Amino acid sequence: MSMPIQSESEQLERIRTTLYPKADAACAELAREIVELMRSREAAGQKTVLGLATGSTPVRLYRELIRLHREEGVSFRNVYTFNLDEYFGLSREHPQSYFRFMHEQLFAHIDIPEDHIHIPSGTVTRQQAFQYCAEYENSIRELGGIDLQILGIGRTGHIGFNEPGSSRESRTRLVTLDSMTRRDAARDFLGEANVPRYAITMGVGTILEARQVVLLAWGDSKSEVLARAVEGEQTDSLPASFLQSHAKARFLIDHAAAADLTRIKHPWRVGLVKWDDEMTRKAVIWLADTLQKPILKLTDEEYSERGMADLLTTRGPAYDLNIQVFSQLQHTITGWPGGKPNADDSSRPERSQPFPKRSLILSPEPQDDVLCLGGTLSRLVRQKHEVTVAYATSGNLAVPDNEVSRVIELFLELEPEIREAGKERNLLRTAREQLRQKGEFDFDSIEIRHIKGLLRRGEAREACQICGLPAGRIRFLDLPFYEMGRYRQFAPKEEDVAALVTLLEEIKPQQIFATGSLSEPSSVQGVCFELLRQALTQVASQSWMKDCRVWLYRGAGAEWASHEIEMAVPLSPDELANKIQGIYQHQSQRSQSPIRTDRHRETWQQAEAINQATAKTYNRLGLAEYEAIETFKQWPIFTQL
Ligand code: GLP
Repeated sequence: MSMPIQSESEQLERIRTTLYPKADAACAELAREIVELMRSREAAGQKTVLGLATGSTPVRLYRELIRLHREEGVSFRNVYTFNLDEYFGLSREHPQSYFRFMHEQLFAHIDIPEDHIHIPSGTVTRQQAFQYCAEYENSIRELGGIDLQILGIGRTGHIGFNEPGSSRESRTRLVTLDSMTRRDAARDFLGEANVPRYAITMGVGTILEARQVVLLAWGDSKSEVLARAVEGEQTDSLPASFLQSHAKARFLIDHAAAADLTRIKHPWRVGLVKWDDEMTRKAVIWLADTLQKPILKLTDEEYSERGMADLLTTRGPAYDLNIQVFSQLQHTITGWPGGKPNADDSSRPERSQPFPKRSLILSPEPQDDVLCLGGTLSRLVRQKHEVTVAYATSGNLAVPDNEVSRVIELFLELEPEIREAGKERNLLRTAREQLRQKGEFDFDSIEIRHIKGLLRRGEAREACQICGLPAGRIRFLDLPFYEMGRYRQFAPKEEDVAALVTLLEEIKPQQIFATGSLSEPSSVQGVCFELLRQALTQVASQSWMKDCRVWLYRGAGAEWASHEIEMAVPLSPDELANKIQGIYQHQSQRSQSPIRTDRHRETWQQAEAINQATAKTYNRLGLAEYEAIETFKQWPIFTQL
């Protein structure tokens, strides 16, 4: 079914897609719309049937619905719900069951009658599954079909659990989960091996029968699959693309998730653009990349042939364009991430004064620092800046039980030698008992989490030491949102912001390195970035802030695109080897890789590959050949607060 084009820049988009600066704004709007739908149906004497999804994505929508219920008296008594899916083999009580998720995230906080809620059962037998699924479909039909279906999207392009290979006609059924999906769920289940292999999901055909479909997506990890779903052909290798055939399907996404849409990535291909410096850089680098040529060798003909005559007219000829962009890129390269003292800094990424600088490196979890900027950290220390590394969270949620068990046993063996540490001994004995009694998927006790946190502290200290940073310059903030929370369910509070404000006021940094600006907002990195933004807002008027720059590093597994890079710090082979040693200290994370793109490679290998790939890209564009490069982009602090 064809859809009227919204605007020229959206001409390649086959699904109506609306961009929002932040997930919250999109969720507030959608929540209002749902409430209006409920009201108008109620006024007409009809019930409302909602199709609901799980995962991190809809959590903010559910929070907003709960708020509307509490603060504005919105009632859900007339609402019926059908959830998309459930892990096969999980009981309702299992901490990762979608049944439990939905109750914790929504149903327990609103006035929907329990018998209006439908969630596929994870405990039917294989023999029963076919019949059970047919009955699930019948119940949808009997209630008149779904009025509005909420969807998230998996990185495989799945909707519900319709993995690649699902046909457009597929119905509710038992399915096998894709390995990437299982890898993405590994953190929830503390290891990929614990993630169920099967699930029951509504089919693509079932979803397409809903009268309206709204797909939500936040964060950079979804950008690639989203662009393919919106602009690519309909194909069963990307089930979300089938939504193109629904007249009332819409996508609501944030800017980070929109990054690969043509209107954002290559806007000159879908209309006239304003050729400012950034757009020019983006286009020239894109052309060099596409033609696999160094920037300085691009010709007028090549610009014209690729639809960039407008750029030539506005800022050309090619000779000028090439030199301009080449020299901008050249000036992003610096071996002095804290600024080079007593040097002309007019075209360096970081200013030379003050020297030394107070540099604050904020790492959402231990390991984010060394993984993403281990080389830069070493350089800052070596160049005598006053570096502080602050770990926002303890990272204890990502420590497998066997690691903690090993530590407990070690300490208990050492017991005679640490007699004075009576308190720790009790803690260890209690924790050992708790570990023994812990059911396969039980949550950790405070004691176990405490020890897991200590374990990560030890690893972080070792890693920092390898980067030359003494233990005294490390801060462990153990922010409460994390200590009290679980993945996908973090609820940051004022005290989290307060802890960051205290740190900022004490250090008065002249440089902050931070990450999470493009992350899914409920991820640890996303939450930490929002907390930093709020903390900076609170201290914005303090005098030291006038002299503070924020450098953003990209999360594990991703790097800034060449045109976005504002500071590129080259690493020599030795520096890279040292960084890898640092990463290696995070022993407890070896089975918990935060980089989830490649299961066959260790975290350090992937980090190495990313830094080396950036160096290769720079070289291909015609710049010097380095072993590896770490990159940063400035956050325009005062326009963003
Ligand atoms: C899960 C769910 C989907 C969800 C997707 C994305 O596997 N079955 O319904 O849309 O993965 O999850 P998240 O929102 O956490 O990114």
